[in-house]
Amino acid sequence: MDLTISKVSGLNGTVKVPGDKSISHRALMLGAIAEGETHILGFLPSVDCLSTLNCMISLGVEIRRLSSTELIIKGVGLRGLKEAKKVLDLGNSGTTMRILPGILAGQNFPSILTGDDSLKKRPMDRIIKPLRLMGADMGAGDKDRRAPITIVGRPLKGISYETPVPSAQVKSCLLLAGLLASGKTCVLEKTKSRDHTERMLEFMDVDIEIAGKEVCVQGGSVPKGAKIEIPGDFSSASFLIVAAVLMKHSKIIIKDVGINPSRIGLLNILLKMGANIEVLNERMICGEPWADISVKSSKLKAVTIEGELIPKLVDELPIFAVAATQAEGTTIVKDAKELRVKETDRIGAICSELKKLGVNIEELEDGFVVHGSSRLKGNTCSSFGDHRMAMALTIAGMLAEGTTTIKDSKCIEVSFPAFEYTLKSLTKEKIIDNSN
Ligand code: S3P
Repeated sequence: MDLTISKVSGLNGTVKVPGDKSISHRALMLGAIAEGETHILGFLPSVDCLSTLNCMISLGVEIRRLSSTELIIKGVGLRGLKEAKKVLDLGNSGTTMRILPGILAGQNFPSILTGDDSLKKRPMDRIIKPLRLMGADMGAGDKDRRAPITIVGRPLKGISYETPVPSAQVKSCLLLAGLLASGKTCVLEKTKSRDHTERMLEFMDVDIEIAGKEVCVQGGSVPKGAKIEIPGDFSSASFLIVAAVLMKHSKIIIKDVGINPSRIGLLNILLKMGANIEVLNERMICGEPWADISVKSSKLKAVTIEGELIPKLVDELPIFAVAATQAEGTTIVKDAKELRVKETDRIGAICSELKKLGVNIEELEDGFVVHGSSRLKGNTCSSFGDHRMAMALTIAGMLAEGTTTIKDSKCIEVSFPAFEYTLKSLTKEKIIDNSN
């Protein structure tokens, strides 16, 4: 499917964004291995999260869907999962492929996990190496680097491990394996990644210790079933935030968004660039901070972003690049090599596609340099099958003169199925024509 986008002068109104993707995956997996029932509200019914949901059902977990966003999971405890009768197909979901093996490696049955062409290209040695140190018997294609992953299932022992790249997926995988292992498992990160797993484990009464950048769990500690309310996904909100900042006649409020400090690097950097954004009605729900975010049209100044900030906005770099095209001055992004191994090579994709829209952008090995104050011109762009590229290019298309076509936009369903509907609800102008 292709999207044809027209220029829009502003977004106005109050909206909600769908549930957080990272938290939805974790609620399913932790709810499955909990003791007792877990009631999830605000679940994200996107293609990626449904991959995790179907896996848990294939592993023998009973899940009742009260509505598309409300579920009840009958927890089976740490060792109550059953061998799946088929290969577990995770589609495009890197989060499932990297976290679920932590649970499966310590079971007493085998599993095989596979995914789509994009997922089969992504590095998996980052979980296989440390899981093997814990005693896991597993292997993967391409010299143990890529899915499919095969897991035999056997007893694990706790380890202390320092992750070479900051990754919440690796950290979460090892912490969940740690619950099934003997002794204590500790994960140390050089730069702290998102901490939803730690917060949810704490909320579900698991024996967990957090000291600075190190997190430890005690083997045998079982999560207790809980009622988990999931906030709106800040990563989905970020497309609307940048759109409202950049479009001249905008004023929007996004309600009930997760503002976990490990996720809102984009918000803080936009404030530094001069954006007119307010965080209202802050509150804590189920161990996560929530707020309403008010955004008005603003003028931005260029910045340099690097180092410890990168993991806090890693998923927002495609839309941040769009913001940088309208800032005054030259914006530099460094230390973001991880973008090369996301759903597509996002550094390559950001540079090639924004160039097509008339942006003066230079590619770096670990980032990019954007010369701002660009007048964008509509063109045909590729999403490379990457949901965040497709949405970032849609916003760029809404700023461009003429029309912009985004090829292969169906992938948006991976994280934000209501993206088009939400944008349309914020303007009376014609934005998207998807009649083709
Ligand atoms: C995620 C962690 C991040 C992020 C991904 C979701 C998670 O990946 O890019 O979209 O839910 O743990 P890494 O752990 O590879 O940094």
